[in-house]
Amino acid sequence: MENVNAKGFGISNWHDTKEIYDKLGQLVHQPMRPVKRDAMSAYVKHFNEKCLGSKKIIEKAKSYIPGGVQHNLAFNYPFPIVIKKADGPYLWDVDGNRYIDFLQAGGPIILGHNYAPVKDRVTEVINECGPTEGLFNEYELKLAEIINKHMPSVEMFRMLGSGTEADMAAIRIARLATGRLKVIKIGGSYHGWSDQMVYGIHIPGTGRYEAYGIPKGCTQNTQEVPPNDIEKLEAVMRMNRLRGGTAAVLLEPLGGESGTRPVYKEYNKQVEELCKKYGVLLIFDEVVTAFRVGLGGAQSYFNVKPDLTVFGKIIAGGYPGAGGVGGRKDLMSLLAAGVQSGKKRAYVGGTLSASPLSSAAGYFAICEIEKTNACEVTGRAGDRLTNGLKQLIEKYHLPFVAYNQGSICHLETAGAMFIKIDIMHLRKCLEEINKRKFMMEEFGAAYMAEGLITLAGNRMYMSLADTDEIIDDALNRFERVFKNIEGVIA
Ligand SMILES: Cc1ncc(COP(=O)(O)O)c(C=O)c1O
Repeated sequence: MENVNAKGFGISNWHDTKEIYDKLGQLVHQPMRPVKRDAMSAYVKHFNEKCLGSKKIIEKAKSYIPGGVQHNLAFNYPFPIVIKKADGPYLWDVDGNRYIDFLQAGGPIILGHNYAPVKDRVTEVINECGPTEGLFNEYELKLAEIINKHMPSVEMFRMLGSGTEADMAAIRIARLATGRLKVIKIGGSYHGWSDQMVYGIHIPGTGRYEAYGIPKGCTQNTQEVPPNDIEKLEAVMRMNRLRGGTAAVLLEPLGGESGTRPVYKEYNKQVEELCKKYGVLLIFDEVVTAFRVGLGGAQSYFNVKPDLTVFGKIIAGGYPGAGGVGGRKDLMSLLAAGVQSGKKRAYVGGTLSASPLSSAAGYFAICEIEKTNACEVTGRAGDRLTNGLKQLIEKYHLPFVAYNQGSICHLETAGAMFIKIDIMHLRKCLEEINKRKFMMEEFGAAYMAEGLITLAGNRMYMSLADTDEIIDDALNRFERVFKNIEGVIA
């Protein structure tokens, strides 16, 4: 389906969502196709011989840092790699190994690593006034203005420290504004790690599965509905009228986990209409999609006007302090700051949020995205990578599934997140998921040994530095792994 407004967007064509789900359904009903055992041993040997510097640092880190690594997205198998240098499409580890980086820190690095036009301007700002001052700097205004220019629904913007904080703020505003309690999310989506949002994450229907250390009361007003199920969403909204009312629907516009579980093209519009019908606020979590799907975000692509939008990642240009919430003036005014206590406001804060560093980095990054047409350029890189992966899947007769939403590419080899949760056979389902997750980790390690960094072995973000040559080089590396898969006769 060609998008009539494709110009300027990262997404050239909306994929055939049904076809993707059909293929994913077939993938999880087939025996797994892992990397051959001897090849996997060779990959592990590679790490043990070529990554000794990383191994030594991580061993020591285990004494001081829980698990020896800080990021959820860092590879643990066979051990995490320690990065020393970043430039354009590449990362280098402490042992001097070079990698094409498609993790992109989880999405914020759309301009490529250490992008000089942003870095130089940010350095000037820091040289002049340091990274923080706790009052106001002009870049806060410049950032809010440029967001509003591209996303008219964001009449006002408040910068915060992370996407997690911004999701919390949006929910708080929604509850205060509506006087209602329930927040409905789409099963499998990620909206940060606040107490109320560690619910139904990664896999739909899992509810409190990951909510260790979180009292039941914290999630009692969070609800999840199955992805793409508009009837169920309406049923829950209707039911909620008797149980405290629905404050908001919160969703990732491409579908859960940055489009890993993709939406049907019409879904967002249908949710918008339903929200209007029931007087429920619509919150778009554009932490990943803002300034990546297009300068106007996914809301512009889907032609939806959310009441509130949540930002993260690119909003600080890859620098720290990446979070913010924006939207309708009447709603956003509920955040009005100042020292006065007791006034009716949605209380948020943050010592280091909206620092000169974060706001200048965000502002200059968006200026560069405008100038370079980065959303569209990276989208074409995503198309090239995905088409190449599809050809490889066909060439080696693999059951794998490759699809993309512009510069966000998905390669499902294990389908771990697509195992249907059957409450009656929960233990068996979870065993199956864990087996498949380990296979995913092995694939991640195999790609890494071949010089490719992915997100969890199944997702790749493109940056402006990913030229055709880089993508073709990456495809050759993927092919080397594909030749090593069980059942493939290379
Ligand atoms: C859609 C979405 N929302 C919220 C978050 C949380 O953002 P942060 O990691 O900045 O807290 C993420 C992080 O990956 C995300 O992908």
